[in-house]
Amino acid sequence: MITITQDDLSKWLEHVRIYANNGKVADYIPALANQQPETNAVAYYPLEGDLICSGQSEYCFTIQSISKVITLAVALIQHGERAVFSRVDKEPTSDPFYSVAKLEVEKPAKPFNPMINAGALAVTNMIRGRNSEEMVNEILRLVRLLTNDETVTYDPEVAQSEYETSFLNRALCYFMKQHGVITGSVEELLDVYTKQCAISMNVQQLARMGAVFANDGRDPDTNEVLIPDQVARICKTFMVTCGMYNESGTFAINVGIPAKSGVSGAVMGILRRSGGIAVFGPALNAKGNSVVGLRFLENLAEEKSWSIF
Ligand code: DON
Repeated sequence: MITITQDDLSKWLEHVRIYANNGKVADYIPALANQQPETNAVAYYPLEGDLICSGQSEYCFTIQSISKVITLAVALIQHGERAVFSRVDKEPTSDPFYSVAKLEVEKPAKPFNPMINAGALAVTNMIRGRNSEEMVNEILRLVRLLTNDETVTYDPEVAQSEYETSFLNRALCYFMKQHGVITGSVEELLDVYTKQCAISMNVQQLARMGAVFANDGRDPDTNEVLIPDQVARICKTFMVTCGMYNESGTFAINVGIPAKSGVSGAVMGILRRSGGIAVFGPALNAKGNSVVGLRFLENLAEEKSWSIF
């Protein structure tokens, strides 16, 4: 059991805030470009005890790629492992998250894993629903259970902004459609995908989602099963091998926990049997990970010796 105090959060957030100067806010999604680099926040949702936080912990951001963990869980719950892994593989890549390169490596266009954009698009394509609205509702249903907040939804402005500029994601979709990896309307799929990425919450809610994974898929307060433990286990394993993209190896050595980042600057970390931790700071490094988030987690990991390895 790892103990983290309010003082730990405040001390390390203060210590690492300066690193925001070393990063750059994502601007390839126009609506993200006006995020303030100096904004930062952290929250820890322990399985025992009360939520603690520091910084602008009420500030809402979009979860972006962190949503890929949720859609993977939904697809696994709805269709099972065999069906999901017939569409997407289980291996990390050393490429950026938006890369098209590996789609030509494994025939026919099977994405390497569900955490890169191609793999996430293939997974979202599997989610049940007669139209994009029903598919988005399936995703929101799980997010609302994990956050224990019925009001959580997506930010329509960020979703629209990404939808209008998703040329690379469109290219990935059409490539996969040509090879039968995805089916149906690409525009409808992009509508769902950009809305899942634009799901908006604060670090307190993100830490609670992490706490469910830390509790092997059970609600941290009621112990009710929200995600089957085998599905939670698969999600956490992908977070270790691919959660920080082509920086996952470095992160595994320096921090040593399952974690998932998003280009908004959010990171969700899982301290198994202890709790969920969420950090936000929108300035990113070249790999698309939050510089403040990484520094914060590295410092705390070292102090608490929490690596699972
Ligand atoms: O598809 C995209 O490019 C974004 N909606 C999400 C990418 C992302 O968050 C990568 N994270 N580091």
